[in-house]
Amino acid sequence: MCPVRSHAPWLPALPVSLVAFVVGFSFASARVAGAPVTIQVDAGGPGRAISPELLGVFFEDLNYAADGGLYAELIQNRSFEYSATEQTAWGPFSFWDLVKTGEADGALGLGDSRPVHVNNPHYLLLTVLKAGGSVGIANRGFDQIPVEGGQAYEASFWAYQAYMGRKWTNDADQNQPMPVTVRLEAKDGTTLAEARFEVVGRTWTQHRATLVPSRSDSEARFVLAAHERGELAIDMVSMFPRDTFQGRANGLRRDLAEAIADLRPKFMRFPGGCLVHGPGVRHYYDWKNTVGPVEQRRAARNSWGYHQTMGLGYFEYFQFCADIGAAPLPVVTAGVCCQHAGHTPGRGQEGLPLAEMPAYIQDVLDLIEWANGPATSRWGAVRAAAGRPEPFGLKYLGVGNEDAITPEFKERFRMIFDVLKQKHPEIVVIGTSGPFASGEDYDNGWTFARELNLAMVDEHYYLPPQWFWDNLARYDGYDRAGPAVYLGEYAAHDEGRRNTLRSALAEAACLTSLERNGDTVRLASYAPLLARRGHTQWHPDMIYFTGTAVYRTANYQVQRLFGHHGGDRALATTLAGRPAGARLAASAVVDSVSGDLILKIVNGDAADAALAIRLAGLADGTTFRAERVVLTGPSADAVNEDGQPPVVQPVSATTSVSPAFDTTVPAHSLTILRIHR
Ligand code: AHR
Repeated sequence: MCPVRSHAPWLPALPVSLVAFVVGFSFASARVAGAPVTIQVDAGGPGRAISPELLGVFFEDLNYAADGGLYAELIQNRSFEYSATEQTAWGPFSFWDLVKTGEADGALGLGDSRPVHVNNPHYLLLTVLKAGGSVGIANRGFDQIPVEGGQAYEASFWAYQAYMGRKWTNDADQNQPMPVTVRLEAKDGTTLAEARFEVVGRTWTQHRATLVPSRSDSEARFVLAAHERGELAIDMVSMFPRDTFQGRANGLRRDLAEAIADLRPKFMRFPGGCLVHGPGVRHYYDWKNTVGPVEQRRAARNSWGYHQTMGLGYFEYFQFCADIGAAPLPVVTAGVCCQHAGHTPGRGQEGLPLAEMPAYIQDVLDLIEWANGPATSRWGAVRAAAGRPEPFGLKYLGVGNEDAITPEFKERFRMIFDVLKQKHPEIVVIGTSGPFASGEDYDNGWTFARELNLAMVDEHYYLPPQWFWDNLARYDGYDRAGPAVYLGEYAAHDEGRRNTLRSALAEAACLTSLERNGDTVRLASYAPLLARRGHTQWHPDMIYFTGTAVYRTANYQVQRLFGHHGGDRALATTLAGRPAGARLAASAVVDSVSGDLILKIVNGDAADAALAIRLAGLADGTTFRAERVVLTGPSADAVNEDGQPPVVQPVSATTSVSPAFDTTVPAHSLTILRIHR
């Protein structure tokens, strides 16, 4: 249905196309402030080459972004590895219930003596003590298991027969199979789909079935039950929708993956953030635990206080990058843990013992071989065995995240860097300048980066919207001969850390300054990307979601518009007559592929802004077709609320422009003019 809310809230509700016609190129409003500001663009010049990869995404497994998020697995605690080290109330049977039907009776036990794989040490022992019905386990997933009638769900589990009959006796035929059912139950208990199996023998075997529920239920439960006296060992109880992103097995939730893909990110940084260097010296994120068959991956405590199955591991991250055309940017620890590890703010940093560094550095080299080596190489073969014989084309590698720049850090970073420089000069190693926009670690991080002649440094800042407006010139003076900048994490934190239009526009203004400086700021990614409602450790985030819904914030809309309207050359752009303190920013880029000139104007003030646009160098008397996109909302405090029609979303119209024209941009808005030359 065509949206009827206009980008100009003072206009009556009209279809978008009609609004475009009514407002033409200017916005009707009585609240225009002061004399026009002149935006002068050197449209005839070649401009300055800027990074064609400027905008990407930063995916951290935080806020249930992976398990319970992008990873489409619907069963929670599928391998009985939840533990009190993750949350004190958690254990191997968390999120599972014992269910019995009819006369049957039984119990749940925990096994660890014959695991499906040494990396996956625990499994369920499901004992039927008395037949006459079924004894089983039920799972409600991550808050809910939403199923759609008529859609296919791929269910699977690993099992072997511990014994039939009673324990320590031989009162039953051990060749008799154990009948097992797997079913999807609606909230009211009715069966939506069911599959039957027979489990025989003492070899771990995977059993699979496709379940097609007879109707939809947003709160279904998954039940696996045994029907005769005896005991089964069970592990890796799993269910995925068949309809994953690009239909991949062990795949990603389609709606979330599509929301990310629609940002058109040029790269993706993963898997963190703080997650990477971890809460203790040997608790860093080890990529080797995250590749290979899923039942052989080593689950781990997530430093944000929950569980990582590693089902979404390095293979899946790289695969996703390939699927959406984003360069993979993995981050590895610099051999030190977080300075806040062990509940000791600022004092927790510890380094891996130096004797362990060669083995750790070899892991980093192996990662490069895994990503880029031929399928005949040792680690390339692991990638190929997972279904990707051709290399992934890794070119960026982050080393460290927001680390305190201490002697311990520097010693280990240098060890890693020296080997990478020698063995893999083709890899762009990205260093870190600590957690803040300025200060000791920032200064020391940059000094160290210059000393090593690093190609790029990762900066992070989370600051109030006004800071972004006050620092639009930040990169104008950066030394072009030194390392380039990766703005790896940033977000405007408004009051209450809400996703207000005000915060989104501050980020948009920042993005215009990044475009202007795209010769030295090579990469930038907003943070964090995803957050599950009810399981969020950090606000604000770009995309919120539940088991069934995806909510795009105002900040998402800004990222998306810049992602769709990027360029590879920045044209000199000046603002003349801007009143002191006015929140007005602009940039102009050229997309060499289409030849389009893209002008972005951000007005962060409460009054419309009258503008004189001068596209110097374009022949007088010519007119150009243009697309105009406006993102605004009812007020600077406007927030896209979950489940409500979004109040901040872009509205597009077509128009035409000449090399010199006057216009007005609305209060609290981002306006993009894409001029087809
Ligand atoms: O983006 C959330 C966290 O913020 C990241 O994990 C960390 O790098 C930063 O402090």
